[in-house]
Amino acid sequence: MSNILILGSQGMLGGELKRTFSKALGWDRKELDLGQIGDLEQRLAALPQLPDAVINCAAYNDVDGAEAYPDKAFLINSTAVGKIASACNSLGIPLIHFSSNYVFDGEKGEYREDDQPNALSTYGKSKYQGEQLLRKNCFKYYLIRTSVLFGQEAESQFAKKSFIEIMLELRETTDTIKAVTDEINSLTYVSDLASSVEALITKKYPYGIYHIVNGGQASWYDFAQEIFRLKGKEVKLEAVDSSAFPRKASRPKKAVLLNTKFPELRSWQEALAEFLS
Ligand SMILES: NC(=O)c1ccc[n+]([C@@H]2O[C@H](COP(=O)([O-])OP(=O)(O)OC[C@H]3O[C@@H](n4cnc5c(N)ncnc54)[C@H](OP(=O)(O)O)[C@@H]3O)[C@@H](O)[C@H]2O)c1
Repeated sequence: MSNILILGSQGMLGGELKRTFSKALGWDRKELDLGQIGDLEQRLAALPQLPDAVINCAAYNDVDGAEAYPDKAFLINSTAVGKIASACNSLGIPLIHFSSNYVFDGEKGEYREDDQPNALSTYGKSKYQGEQLLRKNCFKYYLIRTSVLFGQEAESQFAKKSFIEIMLELRETTDTIKAVTDEINSLTYVSDLASSVEALITKKYPYGIYHIVNGGQASWYDFAQEIFRLKGKEVKLEAVDSSAFPRKASRPKKAVLLNTKFPELRSWQEALAEFLS
């Protein structure tokens, strides 16, 4: 399937999907600003060929920034998603959209696809409202929740920096790196996620909610330790509690995504080793 439209095509995941679907059409902010969508149905209908699927990777991803700019977070992560969903639905185009493990509060620790979200942060709430609008406005949807992405850097200079980029940059400027032990997440290699999206679409999995992440779970400390081990870099890692890093947004203590509907992906350690090699 090659007739795909990718929104947010210059972000980390959008860029990877552009490589996976090499003939896909990519739109980023300059082609379609999600803050001012206009008549998207008409724009899609005017394309030389109606897309076989739209994949929305654009998002307001600044978790702490969303506490200061909630309107922006809700505009991009909720309102715009509802509009994209309506346009796709009117034209019968399946929509693939991404949400986050931050829609959960972390109390239960591990979450199935049908568990009830209860976000702690504005970012999480805006992503959950986006999920609800997607499901309300569109029948043919894949709602993919994912968590802590890593992979090839985004083309866009404004895209969210991955934890790996942050760690490797920090090592150049600091002797001791503090890493948090009491926040635990699933981790996801964007290349594995992109291949999974391709499988969902081409193998015609049933529409609905999916949790797509690599196997296993990790604290930020575990993740950092494995990055430096694989890179063969000596570094003094200090294990700290999240209270050592006061941040504007609350994060779940443990929000691991359980994948009960899609073939299990390899472990995050295996995926990380491939990426860093
Ligand atoms: N990164 C993670 O760890 C993570 C974890 C869980 C879920 N997710 C979800 O996964 C998806 C992909 O994330 P990502 O890390 O690949 O994102 P990313 O690298 O930060 O890229 C986001 C993209 O969205 C675009 N965008 C932002 N505001 C826009 C607007 N107003 N109009 C049009 N485009 C706009 C950005 O364009 P500009 O460069 O022009 O700003 C950028 O290309 C998102 O839905 C995100 O919420 C990510």
